[in-house]
Amino acid sequence: MKTSLFYVKKMVIITGTSKGIGKAVTENYLALGQKVIGIGRTKTIDHHNYQHLFIDLSKQKEVASIQLSIPIDEEIIFIHNAGVLGEIKRFSDQASTDLQTIFQVNLFSGAQLLQNVLKSCPLDQVVKTLFVSSGAGKRPIPSWAGYCASKAAVDLFLQTIQLEELEKGRTDFYCYSFAPGVVDTAMQTSIRSTKKTDFSSVEQFKDLHKDGALNSPQKVAETMVKLLSINQQKPIVCSLKDIE
Ligand SMILES: NC(=O)c1ccc[n+]([C@@H]2O[C@H](COP(=O)([O-])OP(=O)(O)OC[C@H]3O[C@@H](n4cnc5c(N)ncnc54)[C@H](OP(=O)(O)O)[C@@H]3O)[C@@H](O)[C@H]2O)c1
Repeated sequence: MKTSLFYVKKMVIITGTSKGIGKAVTENYLALGQKVIGIGRTKTIDHHNYQHLFIDLSKQKEVASIQLSIPIDEEIIFIHNAGVLGEIKRFSDQASTDLQTIFQVNLFSGAQLLQNVLKSCPLDQVVKTLFVSSGAGKRPIPSWAGYCASKAAVDLFLQTIQLEELEKGRTDFYCYSFAPGVVDTAMQTSIRSTKKTDFSSVEQFKDLHKDGALNSPQKVAETMVKLLSINQQKPIVCSLKDIE
C-alpha cells in the first residue's frame, strides 16, 4: 500500500459541509493545510482556505450553473457527501413519490459535479473521488425505499465510472462508494424521531444510540481522509470497517 508520506498540494471539493460528516471531513482537510471548496445550501465554516458555493443540490439548474476552476497541477479530490433520506414512511403511504429530490441530491448532483471535474482534468492528473454511500444501498430497509435505491445506484454508478476512466487511460484515478456505518449526526436524530408505525426499525436505531454504538463524524472523517491519501485503488464499494 502506497501512502502519501509527504505533503501533496490538493484541491478538495466537497458537498454538504454545514454539519455532520461533511463538516468533519472539511475541518480535517483544513487542519492539514489543504484548500477546500464546499458546496451546499448552508455555510457554517469560516477559514482562509475555505470557499463556499451556495447551491441547493436538489435543484439541477443550480448545480449545472457551477463553474469550478480546477488547477491542473494539483491533486483533485471530489467528495459527494450531501445526502437526504426523504420522508421516512412506506412508499405507498407517502403523500408524493419524493424520488426526484432524493436521487437528485444523493446521486445526480454528485454525478454532474464529478463529470465537471473529469472533463477539466487531463488524463495524467491525480483525481480521487468518494461518494458517501450507505449500508442501506446493499439491503432493503422498509420505509427507506428511495434512499436505499439511490445509494444502491451510487455503488454501481461509481464502479462503472472507474472502468470507463481506465478505458480512457486515466491511470491516477481512485474512486470510492464509501459506507460510513451508523454515524452520530442530525440524520440519525431524525431517524430516531420517526414513529414506529411508519418505520419498523426505529427501535434498533434508538438502541444503537442508547448503547453508544454510533460512529463519530470525526472518526468517519479521519477514515475518509486516510482512504483518499492512498495512491492505490482499494475496492470501490467499501465501508468504514474495511479501511480502519
Ligand atoms: N448518519 C448516518 O448514520 C449515515 C449512514 C450512512 C450514510 N450516511 C450518508 O452520509 C452523508 C452525510 O450524512 P450526515 O449523516 O452527515 O447527515 P447530515 O448531518 O444531515 O448532513 C447532511 C449534509 O447534506 C447537506 N444537504 C442536504 N440536502 C441538501 C441540499 N438540497 N442542498 C445542499 N446540501 C444539502 C446538508 O446541508 P444543509 O445544512 O443545508 O441541510 C448537510 O450539510 C449522506 O450522504 C448520508 O446519506 C449517513
